Amino acid sequence: MAKICVIGTGYVGLVTGTCFADMGHTVTCLDIDENRIHQLQQGIMPIYEPGLKQLVDQNVEAGRLDFTTSYREALKGSEFALIAVGTPSSDDGEADMRYVKSAVDSIAQHLDHPIIIVNKSTVPVGTGDWVAELIHEQNGKGTPPFSVVSNPEFLREGSAVNDFMQPDRVVLGSTNIEAANRVADLYQVLRSPIMITDLRTAEMIKYASNAFLAARISFINEIANICESLGADVREVARGMGMDKRIGPAFLDAGLGWGGSCFPKDVKALTYMAAKSGAHPQLLRAVMDINMNQRSLAVRKLEQALGGLEGKVIGVLGLSFKPNTDDTRDSPALDIIRMLLKAGASVQGFDPQAMQASKAEVPELTLCQNPYDVAKGADGLLLATEWNEFKSLDFGRIKANMRGRVIVDGRNIWDGPELQKMGLNYFGVGVPNPK
Ligand code: UDX
Ligand code: UDX
Repeated sequence: MAKICVIGTGYVGLVTGTCFADMGHTVTCLDIDENRIHQLQQGIMPIYEPGLKQLVDQNVEAGRLDFTTSYREALKGSEFALIAVGTPSSDDGEADMRYVKSAVDSIAQHLDHPIIIVNKSTVPVGTGDWVAELIHEQNGKGTPPFSVVSNPEFLREGSAVNDFMQPDRVVLGSTNIEAANRVADLYQVLRSPIMITDLRTAEMIKYASNAFLAARISFINEIANICESLGADVREVARGMGMDKRIGPAFLDAGLGWGGSCFPKDVKALTYMAAKSGAHPQLLRAVMDINMNQRSLAVRKLEQALGGLEGKVIGVLGLSFKPNTDDTRDSPALDIIRMLLKAGASVQGFDPQAMQASKAEVPELTLCQNPYDVAKGADGLLLATEWNEFKSLDFGRIKANMRGRVIVDGRNIWDGPELQKMGLNYFGVGVPNPK
């Protein structure tokens, strides 16, 4: 078993550190946010992730997991230092590396024994080499032996613990095969395929995987828009496509498109890197355009059905960027709410986990305590995030509470013909409007 230090206790770092502890390693998770570390030391989770709190509590209890803001403490005796700090988008789409640099500089300042630095964060291709240069610069010739391994994560928020414990594959990249094998040893117990390649290729696998998944979604959303014009049902189209083993059924759900802290950031960063290196990322640009357009299409549907948005009341169900998370980073729901407010509507909404974060991002949003209050006095209702609890609502109550009759089902979770029969005016995404 190994001593591991994880830098950054966000959606990636906290899950990664806790899962490694659960596999029997001794893990110290570090964060520069003192409040966050203090909360974690009190057993308070800074993020909502199903199953995480129980895992954290168990491993803290077992003495395998602890939290600190001190690099000296975190690095002491650690054989591995995992970097899982944010790499947000800059205005031009380039990944902002200041946090990675700060983490690497801090590691360099406290480096007094051989260590393997593992890049978990999604970082531009070439970062592995850059990290090594930074440490040599910082410490000159006196640097203890170290190596850098790229180990991109493929965790989905809302299923991150599962995705960590049952990965489809572990990807490792390094110029030092021994170091890569040592990191591979950490994952052996998971019995998943482990691929070892070079640094740049491992970094690119992460971007290419996310960009491909984002492209799949933009593809099915383009098909959905064509289905609407031609009277086909995109849900059935996706079902028929997915039976082809080369296509597969996953990530073919048409709707309001993708958001979150990864797809938008990673597709932008890959496009930026491509353009900067002289390539022409025309497909990636179209993937982003189609995705943003899905949000505007939902606003247009409401506007057309209501004969304008000025002075109208719109209820929005779901505010996080996807179900089973409290993360509102680049949430399609919040983007649409901003557009509705700008058009003169007033908006009221509910989300099982993301209420505070949403109110902080969109102060003019009125928060309701449940889906039925969201319907109260609403001229139109938008399903933006497909939380399970929205899937079987009492539409008799919804209709009675509403002032108008327009329902836009942004994630195709409701039975359109059923709602139409009740006298509601149902619109899906890529599904024929019920007669
Ligand atoms: C982040 C990146 O967004 C993602 O692209 C990458 O794959 C993994 O790391 P996430 O865990 O969602 O994913 O980041 P975030 O939730 O922003 O958490 C980052 C944490 O790092 C924060 O708690 C922040 O306080 C901490 N941090 C940031 C440090 O500890 N040190 C720093 O120098 C900067
Ligand atoms: C994604 C990748 O799946 C994961 O491998 C990577 O490590 C981080 O980025 P995440 O962003 O947490 O994970 O969620 P994911 O479940 O992939 O959904 C991303 C977005 O796509 C969400 O906004 C979701 O609503 C949307 N989506 C997903 C669709 O619109 N249709 C689909 O069929 C699937």
